[in-house]
Amino acid sequence: MKSLVLAGGMGTRLRPLTHAMPKQLVPVANKPVLFHGLEQLGRAGVTEAAVVVGDWHREIRAAVGDGSRFGLEITWLRQEAPFGLAHCVLLARDFLADDDFVMYLGDNVFSDGLTGLADTFRKRRPAAQVAVVRVPNPEEYGIVETGPDGRVTALQEKPRRPRSDLAVAGAYFFSPLVHDAVARIEPSLRGEWEITDALQLLVAEGHEVRAAEITGWWRDTGRIDDILDCNRLLLDRLETSVEGSVDRASTLLGPVVVEPGARIVRSHLRGPLIVGAGTLVEDSYVGPHTSIGADCVLTDAGLAHTILLDRATVTDVNGIHGSVIGRSARVGSSPPGGGHRLVVGDHTELRVLA
Ligand code: TTP
Repeated sequence: MKSLVLAGGMGTRLRPLTHAMPKQLVPVANKPVLFHGLEQLGRAGVTEAAVVVGDWHREIRAAVGDGSRFGLEITWLRQEAPFGLAHCVLLARDFLADDDFVMYLGDNVFSDGLTGLADTFRKRRPAAQVAVVRVPNPEEYGIVETGPDGRVTALQEKPRRPRSDLAVAGAYFFSPLVHDAVARIEPSLRGEWEITDALQLLVAEGHEVRAAEITGWWRDTGRIDDILDCNRLLLDRLETSVEGSVDRASTLLGPVVVEPGARIVRSHLRGPLIVGAGTLVEDSYVGPHTSIGADCVLTDAGLAHTILLDRATVTDVNGIHGSVIGRSARVGSSPPGGGHRLVVGDHTELRVLA
């Protein structure tokens, strides 16, 4: 089975981070979100993947390399603009040839990987199989209605009155029958070739489209809160590994990873958390569900449930919570009476104590 990995798009909901990097390279548990997916595709037995990239093609190619570390041979496909998920299938027509494939959204993470879903598809080989998950708020998702045997009878995109709670997650398995369907659909009102329309066409013409319920959790890291949540869930599976140095005046509690070259000095670390390579944590408190990137510096800092990207610094600031701090960003304190000094980039969100 081949794979089509979607790593284009604009990532508007992740600004300001996506002013400086593609959303697929935002780290969760100190690894670009896209790498989690590529690893799982490799584990599910995929060897050939085409990756669709947009304006950030150089950065993504540089980060992924030739794909061998994921066990994948990669073909790069440039999409001029995010014309929709079904447009990506059109773009990959030659690469996909007449093989079965899994279309994977490069900003999604499945806790239990793709092996089970791929096996289910291989066994039955329907025209298409969508991964689904039960959600409490189906009006915010694409959802499917199914018959008693798991066969999809209808699909709805963000319905105001949902007729089921089965949301479509970002892994779609296709037989080559999908090509005929995507070639016959028209762009939607928002100007995109929608994969939902292609699936709907397959259903309408009597082809077997199946829903396979995932085990474990699934997260689409489209918004900051989803990224923090995905980071939390991944860290919940962390095991302690200390390769950097921890002085005697420091304490480590719970699962903590200290990467090579990181130094912990007179600090308290309460896992699960990761401290990236080359980072210095001094006279600080780092709380649960925190991922600190490489070469950061924390001095007299206190933070929890937070992601720090590489080379960020925090000095003399406590109580940081639920935050994402970008690459080389500096967070510090003002002298008494000095007021808040803010140098804030476009589309940034800041909340200070009232
Ligand atoms: P979206 O979540 O729609 O991604 P987006 O970047 O358009 O998000 P935003 O609404 O914040 O601007 O798409 C899911 C994944 O598919 C994501 O990895 C981007 C990718 N994608 C493409 O590669 N090409 C496309 O035409 C579209 C629509 C998405």
